[in-house]
Amino acid sequence: AFKPLVFSGVQPTGNLHLGNYLGAITKFVALQDSHECIYCVVDMHAITVPQDPQALTAQIREVTAAFLAAGIDPRKHIVFNQSQVHEHAELAWVFNCVARIGWLNRMTQFKEKAGKDRENASVGLYAYPTLMAADILVYRATHVPVGEDQKQHLELARDIAQKFNNDYAESIASNGFGEGFFPLPEPLIQGPATRVMSLRDGSKKMSKSDPSDYSRINLSDDADAVAQKVRKAKTDPEPLPSEEAGLEKRPEAQNLVGIFAALADRSRADVLREFGGAQFSSFKAALVDLAVTKLGPIGSEMKRLAADPGYIDSVLADGAERASAIARPNMDAVKDILGF
Ligand code: ADP
Ligand code: NA
Repeated sequence: AFKPLVFSGVQPTGNLHLGNYLGAITKFVALQDSHECIYCVVDMHAITVPQDPQALTAQIREVTAAFLAAGIDPRKHIVFNQSQVHEHAELAWVFNCVARIGWLNRMTQFKEKAGKDRENASVGLYAYPTLMAADILVYRATHVPVGEDQKQHLELARDIAQKFNNDYAESIASNGFGEGFFPLPEPLIQGPATRVMSLRDGSKKMSKSDPSDYSRINLSDDADAVAQKVRKAKTDPEPLPSEEAGLEKRPEAQNLVGIFAALADRSRADVLREFGGAQFSSFKAALVDLAVTKLGPIGSEMKRLAADPGYIDSVLADGAERASAIARPNMDAVKDILGF
């Protein structure tokens, strides 16, 4: 039976955390029965900001290990790293010539990541969304599981696909591709919108780049580290409410309840039915148990895989070959359409 094609990626920028796990990796795992999936370690996105080459090699393997440890099956689906499939960069250049400067000027992630010193940001950081559009469209993927933070970039990918289809409509038709060459990829948002916030500040998202290690639970943390971080997590003095309305204006409480619900695969309302009226000390103890039960096996499997980099590299090499087999004919068709 036909299964829609999914593409998504995670940057190998270190400190893989609970937000990446709940917001991205568990969703990737859940799509495997209903979709054909291509999951990519987007190393070329990582170098839009400075990276240490040796650390980058280790981080590429770490993200791959996390994919496998979480349950992505690299025999049924494709797992690889972006730099090994040249067509991503090739199509990104074409898309740099399709996208308009005005479109990129509106991207909020660039403004956040470049900060005040915009003159010194890399051109790659600015053009990041055209590479992301190429990542998806070089496979002509139709569905992209993304967090809220990536929705604007996905809209840009749709705009690029549409402009290419319009600008080259005649050539697309005369090359036998009918109405449009690229599909307009759709966001795939399943389950409750998972946005995991920092454990130190409920107004900031949990992030790899937060300087405080206590702000995030890393997938590589052992049980002691998880316990310490949860115990130190910021809360307010009130006990837990028994209904969701009681979480309003209590971002830290909301975050911890949301994390519990996501890890337990239960609704927030259901979690509050159990813990309403409880003090945070007892709720946090339950959260530590749950987090250690759920993340412990993934952490130990990642550690086991880390001891066998040869195996990880062979998974990536096999994935790159299978990804190329899709990307190459698509890129050849793009060249025909362009008149190359
Ligand atoms: P980061 O944002 O930490 O640098 P990436 O950009 O590599 O990580 O994001 C990888 C995936 O993880 C994306 O799909 C992103 O939406 C998701 N993600 C990152 N941080 C969070 C978070 N705090 N909560 C939920 N999802 C997140
Ligand atoms: Na992100």
